[in-house]
Amino acid sequence: MMRIDILTLFPNMFSGFLEESIMKRAIDAKLVDIHIIDFREFSTSKHKKVDDYPYGGGAGMVLQVQPVYDALRSIKGYREALKIIVSPQGVPFTQPIAYEYSSHDHIIILCGHYEGYDERIRSYFDVELSIGDYVLTGGELAAMVLVDAITRVVPDVINNDESHIHDSFNNHLLEHPHYTRPREFDGQEVPEVLVNGHHQKIEEWRLQQSLAKTKKRRPDLYKKYLEDKNDETT
Ligand code: ADE
Repeated sequence: MMRIDILTLFPNMFSGFLEESIMKRAIDAKLVDIHIIDFREFSTSKHKKVDDYPYGGGAGMVLQVQPVYDALRSIKGYREALKIIVSPQGVPFTQPIAYEYSSHDHIIILCGHYEGYDERIRSYFDVELSIGDYVLTGGELAAMVLVDAITRVVPDVINNDESHIHDSFNNHLLEHPHYTRPREFDGQEVPEVLVNGHHQKIEEWRLQQSLAKTKKRRPDLYKKYLEDKNDETT
């Protein structure tokens, strides 16, 4: 079973997330074991302080190294674990990283707050990841994004079928449109090919739809798709 420890100052933010839907199922099925650690409890200061003013001056507070260091060392097996910091300065988190991390036995994620981390915190972690080019009030939502994306590709979390093999991004393409009943709603019809087409025609239609959507919305992904395709044929 994969173990994930999350170091946070706001443990309650994780309750809904871990108690619903696929995350709950994965935990109940003992496919993942998730521990939330409030690292404020490890502060050795009088009022359990975890932040302080920046050396050199400037706006905002900086997360101190001591509480993080002691919380980290309280986790059994922390030396061998993959240790991740989430921050807007990290490298972009992507689907291939989710797949790669899903085979790790033990992951530790640190959620930051305040203006930043004392730089020395970084020396105890292996990698720094960002979930996108925007700034959140804290790392908790980013940690949940990581945990969610990694958990859903852990073997057996999503039923044996192939539902994540066709995911957007596995082949650099966005997904084709989907339809379910009814066949007509408010004057909008399900495309004829999906109702009457045979298998090959449907696959052709879906690929064409994927290509058109990707080219329009994500020219960056479309370029990668074409490059990969060229590599295959040369
Ligand atoms: N913390 C604040 N903003 C973040 C982001 N975009 N990604 C990861 N962690 C963050």
